[in-house]
Amino acid sequence: MKQIALSGIKPTGTLHIGNYLGMIKPAFDLIENFQTLYFVADYHALTTLKGKDTLNHNVYDVVATLLALGLDPQKVIFFRQSDIPEIFEFTWILNCFTAKGLLNRAHAYKAVADANLSVGKQPDADVNAGLYNYPVLMAADILLYGSHFVPVGQDQRQHVEIARDIALAVNNTCGEVLTVPEPLIQETVMTIPGIDGRKMSKNYNNTIPIFADAKALRKQVMRIVTDSRRPEDPKNPDECNVFNIFKYFAPPQTIDSRRNAYLSGELAYSEIKQELYELLNEFFGSRRDTYTKLLDDKNHLDRILNEGADKARAIAGPVLESMRRAVGIRR
Ligand code: TRP
Repeated sequence: MKQIALSGIKPTGTLHIGNYLGMIKPAFDLIENFQTLYFVADYHALTTLKGKDTLNHNVYDVVATLLALGLDPQKVIFFRQSDIPEIFEFTWILNCFTAKGLLNRAHAYKAVADANLSVGKQPDADVNAGLYNYPVLMAADILLYGSHFVPVGQDQRQHVEIARDIALAVNNTCGEVLTVPEPLIQETVMTIPGIDGRKMSKNYNNTIPIFADAKALRKQVMRIVTDSRRPEDPKNPDECNVFNIFKYFAPPQTIDSRRNAYLSGELAYSEIKQELYELLNEFFGSRRDTYTKLLDDKNHLDRILNEGADKARAIAGPVLESMRRAVGIRR
């Protein structure tokens, strides 16, 4: 039996190439060697996103994006978090084994509390209980399917560690009921720079969307911030935001030759930007039509999600059942 790798994507915005490199591609790379479960974490999105049309659109956007990028629902159990009712009973039981102090320190909540404090507000201003309990729901996502590994970006490491802590707390009290998961973090692509050089993130409005149309894609690439060195000046590729994206998409020989051209002053920023645009447009552009067609057929997407949910529930059912027995809710 293959070990289980599980990951969730929160549908809070259009997926960008930082998501692709940091999360989607590493997750795709696991498909051959693990039984993989990938899901759209719509209930997690609800902690911050209020607006039914946006949330609904975002869910299908994530689904269409992943399918267009080549996710094969025959190989991956691909589903929507909210299609699995078992998750709530399981979340409740886990809540009863979760130290409240653990949640005070969890970063999804703490980031908002700290931001409130920094502008002189009460730490809990505008904090809903869903945001506070975010890590418990995430632990339920992970533990309900007996996951061994959780591929996530660096920003989610703490949440996976909380899931570990909760699993250990349950096992210490109730016997070995739960599989204790481990985070799987790809160190090399931890932070993909955005067009302004900060980490690419929708919070900074500095992203390059995966399926932007060719014109928008080119415009965004041309906006990548560089210093003011002239075309003939030698440049440091490792300090260049353009190169730091380029190197993830170009073939190895091209990376070497462009690196040399930077160093010897034979490359203008405008040239490398054009090359990056062409690489991205070639890589993602061929799948853009598939994405648009998928997004237009929501019934088809629902069918795929429903099939995934059936498979996920088949794994979740027995885990929940043994949990109920272990705590004494059932004999
Ligand atoms: N919290 C994750 C994020 O914001 C999404 C997520 C929800 C998740 N449940 C999960 C990731 C379970 C891995 C495993 O990106």
